[in-house]
Amino acid sequence: MHLALFGASGRTGLLLTERALAEGHTVTALLRHPETYPYAARVRVVRGDAFTPAAIAETLVGADAVLSGLGARSLGKEDVLERAVPLIITAMQQAKVRRIVVLGSGGALDSGLDKQPAVARWLVEHVVYETLLKWPVASQRAQYAALAGSGLDWTMVMPPMLTNGPARGRYRVDGEALPRSGASISRADVADFMMAQLQPGARQWIGKGVYVSN
Ligand SMILES: NC(=O)c1ccc[n+]([C@@H]2O[C@H](COP(=O)([O-])OP(=O)(O)OC[C@H]3O[C@@H](n4cnc5c(N)ncnc54)[C@H](OP(=O)(O)O)[C@@H]3O)[C@@H](O)[C@H]2O)c1
Repeated sequence: MHLALFGASGRTGLLLTERALAEGHTVTALLRHPETYPYAARVRVVRGDAFTPAAIAETLVGADAVLSGLGARSLGKEDVLERAVPLIITAMQQAKVRRIVVLGSGGALDSGLDKQPAVARWLVEHVVYETLLKWPVASQRAQYAALAGSGLDWTMVMPPMLTNGPARGRYRVDGEALPRSGASISRADVADFMMAQLQPGARQWIGKGVYVSN
């Protein structure tokens, strides 16, 4: 497959690049700073940002599917997903690329905490989501809404806290809510699950958000 990769230089994006190349895919990566990207010699690079329609269209040339590890580099109000995801969707519709798998967050939907113990749920909802993660959660809600209205074959992978630990190769997957007491998952396991969605026949989570956690 030829994959268009957004957020390729991020912590999950680097793992997605590595996995994609190891699985024999070819990759085009949209990068703001190609000079610091360790895979620049092995992928087709488009220099630009995800707010520029021409750069997005160039990234999609020849793509069979899209992967995104995009996100703000801070917890502040950056609106990266609010701005970029609708542009990527429009460009995909124009280029007739249908499949997209994105890194989302367990905070994207109200129902995401339905399986958590009551106290933990209250704390996360009313303390964490309304303070520290206020802007990332708003961005993820916007990403979900944009994808849900896109008509594309989308999958939003929705983890709790991400860690930089090694892949365990074992994690829980749930279409309704974050698995009970599943507080974290490594970026490596998330990348593994995202890549698995591109396997032929992996259709279970098309048109859906899906929660993954340890
Ligand atoms: N941290 C957590 O515990 C957690 C938990 C659940 C979900 N999430 C979600 O996971 C995502 C972050 O994942 P991560 O930590 O792997 O990513 P990350 O390391 O923060 O990397 C973000 C990526 O997005 C790119 N990017 C940002 N703005 C861009 C723009 N305007 N144009 C082009 N590229 C742009 C960055 O490019 P540069 O290299 O050029 O900056 C980088 O490649 C966020 O959406 C977040 O909401 C995080």
